[in-house]
Amino acid sequence: MKDLKTTYLGLSIKNPIVVGSSGLASTIGGIKKLANAGAAAIVLKSVFEEEIKAEAEQTVGQQLGMDENNLEFYDYYDYQVKNEVLENYVSLIREAKEAVDIPIIASINCSSYSEWVSFANKIEDAGADAIELNIFKLPFGINDEASEIEKVYFDIVRKVKERLSIPVGIKLAPYFTNLGNVINRLSHSGVSGLILFNRFTSVDYDIENDQVITGKVYSGADDYANTLRWVSISSNLAGCDIVASGGIHDYRTLVKMLLAGAASAEVVSAIYKEGPEVIGAMLKELEAWMERRNVNSINEFKGRLCQGKATNPEVFERVQFMRYFSGHKH
Ligand SMILES: Cc1cc2nc3c(=O)[nH]c(=O)nc-3n(C[C@H](O)[C@H](O)[C@H](O)COP(=O)(O)O)c2cc1C
Repeated sequence: MKDLKTTYLGLSIKNPIVVGSSGLASTIGGIKKLANAGAAAIVLKSVFEEEIKAEAEQTVGQQLGMDENNLEFYDYYDYQVKNEVLENYVSLIREAKEAVDIPIIASINCSSYSEWVSFANKIEDAGADAIELNIFKLPFGINDEASEIEKVYFDIVRKVKERLSIPVGIKLAPYFTNLGNVINRLSHSGVSGLILFNRFTSVDYDIENDQVITGKVYSGADDYANTLRWVSISSNLAGCDIVASGGIHDYRTLVKMLLAGAASAEVVSAIYKEGPEVIGAMLKELEAWMERRNVNSINEFKGRLCQGKATNPEVFERVQFMRYFSGHKH
């Protein structure tokens, strides 16, 4: 038996596989299946800042036949509906905590600190072991300065940390001009973990029917390179747990993330594609690899190949194919 214990947002967990936020964990049935399959922790489906707003507007509009004459009721109903959305989420946390004995992490998708921060205490009171904030604002404002956009992240962390005592994790997108700087500063801002990276829904075109359609929903087994690079670069210097997310479909990629210095890994697409059993299969193969490579615990090899310890650290900073093309015979 190998020791697979590690950490996620500073919490002690029994193995490195955490189920990332998605519809997989939106019902108690789903949560139990994931726990039975061996997941070390589960991040619940996110509550969306916009979802809360949109649902409020739609329901209120329908209920009141919204027009200018009854706008004065809006604030009251707005508040009620928001509460209902949150109450359902709070119930899910409570029931999940009763149903399984692994950490349950709440998740909020947000792009500002205004709308939802007052809900954070309810999430903590309901028994969530930690909270993951998926922060992103598409930077399409042509007058927005990068520093203003970055400031939002730090403002959110400060406001949430003021209110909560449970660990706070930030799930980041890779789209910053100075990603290394942002990761480093956020990792020392009082958060307990950074999740690198989020995956976005994408837009595509159906060229036979001139339709705008949704792009590929799930990651593939080759989609891990950017995560690996940044986990490797940041894990050695970070002031909190670095959690890998994106394209982890088998034990090999899981091992790579741990070698790069990830404390743990979030998995989503592989579970959608192959079912919760993939968790047990990955753990079994991880143990077999540890046996083969003669290591007994995750701590023994975690970070062994991070940039700071690599014999060829410049590889992590090389992005262009200069050598490949200059030496390539056509
Ligand atoms: C169907 C689906 C739903 C998702 N829903 C959420 C969500 O509600 N909140 C969130 O933070 N991330 C969500 N994600 C992103 C995942 O948590 C994860 O970060 C991303 O898929 C990368 O991991 P993967 O390559 O293992 O899928 C979702 C992903 C998928 C595929």
